[in-house]
Amino acid sequence: MVPSFLSLSFSSLGLRASGLILVLGFLKLIRLLLRRQMLAKAMDNFPGPPTHWLFGHALEIQETGSLDKVVSWAHQFPYAHPLWFGQFIGFLNIYEPDYAQAVYSRGDPKAPDVYDFFLQWIGRGLLVLEGPKWLQHRKLLTPGFHYDVLKPYVAVFTESTRIMLDKWEEKAREGKSFDIFCDVGHMALNTLMKCTFGRGDTGLGHSRDSSYYLAVSDLTLLMQQRLVSFQYHNDFIYWLTPHGRRFLRACQVAHDHTDQVIRERKAALQDEKVQKKIQNRRHLDFLDILLGAWDEDDIKLSDADLRAEVDTFMFEGHDTTTSGISWFLYCMALYPEHQHRCREEVREILGDQDSFQWDDLGKMTYLTMCIKESFRLYPPVPQVYRQLSKPVTFVDGRSLPAGSLISMHIYALHRNSAVWPDPEVFDPLRFSTENASKRHPFAFMPFSAGPRNCIGQQFAMSEMKVVTAMCLLRFEFSLDPSRLPIKMPQLVLCSKNGFHLHLKPLGPGSGK
Ligand code: HEM
Repeated sequence: MVPSFLSLSFSSLGLRASGLILVLGFLKLIRLLLRRQMLAKAMDNFPGPPTHWLFGHALEIQETGSLDKVVSWAHQFPYAHPLWFGQFIGFLNIYEPDYAQAVYSRGDPKAPDVYDFFLQWIGRGLLVLEGPKWLQHRKLLTPGFHYDVLKPYVAVFTESTRIMLDKWEEKAREGKSFDIFCDVGHMALNTLMKCTFGRGDTGLGHSRDSSYYLAVSDLTLLMQQRLVSFQYHNDFIYWLTPHGRRFLRACQVAHDHTDQVIRERKAALQDEKVQKKIQNRRHLDFLDILLGAWDEDDIKLSDADLRAEVDTFMFEGHDTTTSGISWFLYCMALYPEHQHRCREEVREILGDQDSFQWDDLGKMTYLTMCIKESFRLYPPVPQVYRQLSKPVTFVDGRSLPAGSLISMHIYALHRNSAVWPDPEVFDPLRFSTENASKRHPFAFMPFSAGPRNCIGQQFAMSEMKVVTAMCLLRFEFSLDPSRLPIKMPQLVLCSKNGFHLHLKPLGPGSGK
């Protein structure tokens, strides 16, 4: 039995704790209400679609077809409109080049309301860093994307793509359409592991690299689910749910893997012979570049920084290209005349070579225009967010104070009919040198723009060209009309329905 004085003190402790929780909850509510008032007042001059009293626009945003809903709002409210995720998080949603330039030509920080969800996994790497530390990292990492480093990756892209295409050859033999998305995802992640750590998933299913591969796939999926599930937005609640615990376990696997690879590489670098071997290797990987990076004050990246940057590459670099390649192949299936023209071009460039070389990529003019046109219609990253560090005044004289939240709706920007006549028409010639030179520099932003643009865009474009050229040489792609993709904005632009395509092998001379 509990003595009465103890039960008394327990109950008074309990009372005090509940009192404290109530006070903290109350203070949090006041803070949220004040913030709401500030954000709403800031957007007073921007009319927008009606909001639900509790969910704001969240219900519409979660629905299938939400992207096209925003495009229809964009017609109703030129330039920008408020967009509320629930009651307390309100962004100014923008989709006009001058508006985009006013914000994205500056280096304002990322909106913590969105990017803080990534921290548990990718830590403070380039994507979420801000201020002088971001600049220091950006300078240190930029040499990793120099074309001398990228050139040898063509062989890595080729090797991973061949594995995927051989798998497709077997699937295509069944004569049915199949979903290409997972295989593209596997190929892109495997490629990125090879370019980051120098080795990919062995495919054996039980190695350390395979566990890492599975953990990264799981983390991407869980993070996407969390973003659209408002009940999971609070950290405390999320970590208590089965999803949240699964996320933490996968994070642990990913972090352990990254830490161990870094430790092993650092230890190996102590050995002069290994150093020589690395120098003579056919390509340096990102880890080599990161470990060799010194800034002008002779400062190296700390272990925590190294891990954050590696994890950021893995996060930013595979899902985006997976989305880009999948939508591109869908566009090729939808527009056979463009597919045919791209194939003729890459056949001519390949000639009697076995595989593509770096210099070939610059010759793929029509393919590049088609990739850009598919990025326009299906931007892999459909939205990016900022929090203003100082006020901004837009071209029409309307302004926003510091602290306001901005959502750059790349999908709606790319369908802005003031910039893109007949925006729904797939027309690669929009990207001819002549046409592109006449366009606003912030009209086409698949890789964002300004100082916080994508550091990996050359890598991504090279990968996209090699992979898609090889796909077109090996197969003819056509649609399965019973299972067309349904656009679903998650962290990247996915399809609710997958990407079911018919693949017809093209036989000898198809670049095997
Ligand atoms: C088709 C492929 C890709 C697309 C469409 C894409 C798109 C983007 C976009 C829109 C941003 C800005 C994000 C924001 O402001 O929140 C970004 C940033 C970034 N991307 Fe990519 N990306 C792609 C591939 C890659 C690859 C392959 C890598 C690395 C290997 C990469 C690494 C990064 C990093 C580190 C940042 C943050 C840069 C900074 O803030 O300084 N991306 N990307």
